[in-house]
Amino acid sequence: MQMHQTARNDLLLDVRNLETHFFGEDSVTRALGGISFQVKKGETLGVVGESGCGKSVTALSILRLLPKVSARTVGGEVRFHGRDLLDLSDREMRKIRGDQIAMIFQEPMTSLNPVYTVGRQIAEAVQIHTKASRSAAMKKAEEMLRLVRIADPERRVNNYPHEMSGGMRQRAMIAMALACSPELLIADEPTTALDVTIQAQILRLIVDLKERTGTAVMFITHDLGVVAETCQRVIVMYAGRIVEQANVIDLFARPAHPYTQGLMRSVPDRRRGRQRRLPEIPGIVPSLREPIVGCSFAPRCPFAIDICREKRPPFLDVGSSHAAACWRAEEVMGA
Ligand SMILES: Nc1ncnc2c1ncn2[C@@H]1O[C@H](COP(=O)(O)OP(=O)(O)OP(=O)(O)O)[C@@H](O)[C@H]1O
Ligand SMILES: [Mg+2]
Repeated sequence: MQMHQTARNDLLLDVRNLETHFFGEDSVTRALGGISFQVKKGETLGVVGESGCGKSVTALSILRLLPKVSARTVGGEVRFHGRDLLDLSDREMRKIRGDQIAMIFQEPMTSLNPVYTVGRQIAEAVQIHTKASRSAAMKKAEEMLRLVRIADPERRVNNYPHEMSGGMRQRAMIAMALACSPELLIADEPTTALDVTIQAQILRLIVDLKERTGTAVMFITHDLGVVAETCQRVIVMYAGRIVEQANVIDLFARPAHPYTQGLMRSVPDRRRGRQRRLPEIPGIVPSLREPIVGCSFAPRCPFAIDICREKRPPFLDVGSSHAAACWRAEEVMGA
């Protein structure tokens, strides 16, 4: 009972059966086919998978930032502190965004406004969420730039985004996201647009800040190497569903889904100081416009047998806090 209580209080985000569709002229893309996962207070959860598997749509569905004309979350719940965000008014949702949940994107120019100085934008984020005066907020903006290790913060607060390098802009965006001490930071490929050295610095910075502030982080990446360095727990997505979930040590020690194994074989080798991509998983991702029969990975899977092509595998425990959606998980883990 006591343990159950603690576990519940630990829970920050509880996503249940989330389903999001895109509506085209004559077709529906089932971008999320019902995904469930949790983020605990202060933890770093990695979300991995190949391009198009639904990582960004997951983040945007949680924050309700999908284009209203073409996309709709048609099912499920997004419980944050127990409240379903999908039930909130637009106004309540705006208050949650930035105040309790912040997001950083791959391309900083999508969050930074080119016509205002970086300092002013961070100060505004501070002012929206605290009662700070304008000058106190500017002071805080400068402090935030120092925190994300931008040199000369007293000068840089007056820079416009275009006066900064890509890495600096990324840092400024992180400063803005963290300015109001969110409880959850969703980072969607925050480093892919940057060169390898800067990538490593930004990653270290996020991990560092996270340790200092206790913010929980949902770290979206297609790079398992990044996951190994930054995350405690991982969900692996394929074709709009979660196919495996585990803590990071178990995932690397004993991957239970053939797709995860395939991803691991294609981890880029960074030790050589360049991004040498190993062979990708052969075959192509299924179309999300047609209903999928059986396991969506079966056509590419070296383990596939008849049942895989006929019946969708249930998401089942394969260890303590380790689960996978694979009919042959036992064999895969032993392989
Ligand atoms: N605005 C949109 N209109 C129509 N379909 C979309 C839109 N955005 C995403 N999709 C579809 O939703 C699916 C999931 O896309 P999503 O952007 O979440 O992928 P991702 O995992 O973030 O990929 P990447 O690693 O390339 O960022 C894809 O099949 C994509 O084609
Ligand atoms: Mg994406």
